[in-house]
Amino acid sequence: MASPAPKYFWIFVSFSVSLSVYGFFYFQSHYTIYVDGKVVNFTGDLFQVAADNKLISCGIPKSMSQLTINIMCLLYDEDSFSAESNSLNDTWVTKRECLQENEFRNPTSQLLNDNETVRFAFIRDPIQRFVSLYLDKCIHTKFCFDCDTNMSCFVQRIYDMLKNIQNYRHGFQKSDIMAQHAAPLSWMCNFDRELEKWHLLMMGSDFVERKSSILHLANILKRQGFNESLVEKIQQDTLAGETAHSTHTSSHRVEAERQVREDPFIRDLLHKIYFFDYVVFPFKRDSLDAKYRTNFWSIPE
Ligand SMILES: *[C@@H]1O[C@H](CO)[C@@H](O)[C@H](O)[C@H]1NC(C)=O
Ligand SMILES: *[C@@H]1O[C@H](CO)[C@@H](O)[C@H](O)[C@H]1NC(C)=O
Ligand SMILES: *[C@@H]1O[C@H](CO)[C@@H](O)[C@H](O)[C@H]1NC(C)=O
Ligand SMILES: *[C@@H]1O[C@H](CO)[C@@H](O)[C@H](O)[C@H]1NC(C)=O
Ligand SMILES: *[C@@H]1O[C@H](CO)[C@@H](O)[C@H](O)[C@H]1NC(C)=O
Repeated sequence: MASPAPKYFWIFVSFSVSLSVYGFFYFQSHYTIYVDGKVVNFTGDLFQVAADNKLISCGIPKSMSQLTINIMCLLYDEDSFSAESNSLNDTWVTKRECLQENEFRNPTSQLLNDNETVRFAFIRDPIQRFVSLYLDKCIHTKFCFDCDTNMSCFVQRIYDMLKNIQNYRHGFQKSDIMAQHAAPLSWMCNFDRELEKWHLLMMGSDFVERKSSILHLANILKRQGFNESLVEKIQQDTLAGETAHSTHTSSHRVEAERQVREDPFIRDLLHKIYFFDYVVFPFKRDSLDAKYRTNFWSIPE
């Protein structure tokens, strides 16, 4: 009789887990991700490159990835960006010239090994990111597996899908869009190998936090030698977009947030899927269940 698969995602990290998460970035960080005892082979590399100014970004789905791509397209080739009438508001439906360019999408090993290369990514609270994914796939469009709008069903399907990734013979399939969107942040951008090299910009839930991340990004861009007036313009347009977004909360969102806060089944799976993200990245853990809030954690049971 086959033994039942362990119900949890379990994880092993090669640094001391008792370190404060906020202090974590001062240490060399390498970690290995195991799911049910097998190493996850997930190469969800989602890079954008502006090689002249030694800048690499990683656009994490549901974490300002469209904005990241747009900013990087503009920085990569400003003339072509204006010629094509691209804007920082563009989404995946707009054709963006830069995305056709191999040089834009794949950093060279020379650039990766250059100690002046700067990397940045926007990161977002994993449960908030899940809510956004749910609203997008199950409410606004109908790519919700066969779950209709049932969040319990959706989270179960995602959990099963991510567990299956360990069994893909040739690693993660880039064409699996849902996996790209649902996978933990800690699986992405080759963070497991070189997290300490990244500037992580928190996509906070309120405007103040987002503003501070945008200002941080503007500073990075100036330091990398981009035209200051261009950077000022990017900063202004981005903040304007944020102001426009920040006022709207739909009733669907309110209901989805209630479910992730109150439904024990959904919470249990979300903790199993995303807990490691809370260990690796400096997210607040106030909204997690008590046993997941401490740094002296053990394998969830
Ligand atoms: C980068 O590497 C060069 C030699 O390869 C070294 O001279 C320089 O100090 C390094 N810069 C930094 C910021 O580490
Ligand atoms: C939602 O899905 C779960 C799991 O698939 C199922 O047990 C539950 O009955 C469904 N709820 C509704 C209201 O359909
Ligand atoms: C992981 O997947 C990639 C292709 O996606 C493959 O080249 C590589 O060999 C795999 N690594 C392991 C350890 O299975
Ligand atoms: C920066 O861009 C502005 C507007 O395109 C231009 O007028 C200015 O000359 C540029 N500055 C530098 C230092 O290239
Ligand atoms: C982008 O969106 C913002 C906020 O919705 C709007 O103010 C701005 O005019 C838009 N820009 C373009 C170029 O469409």
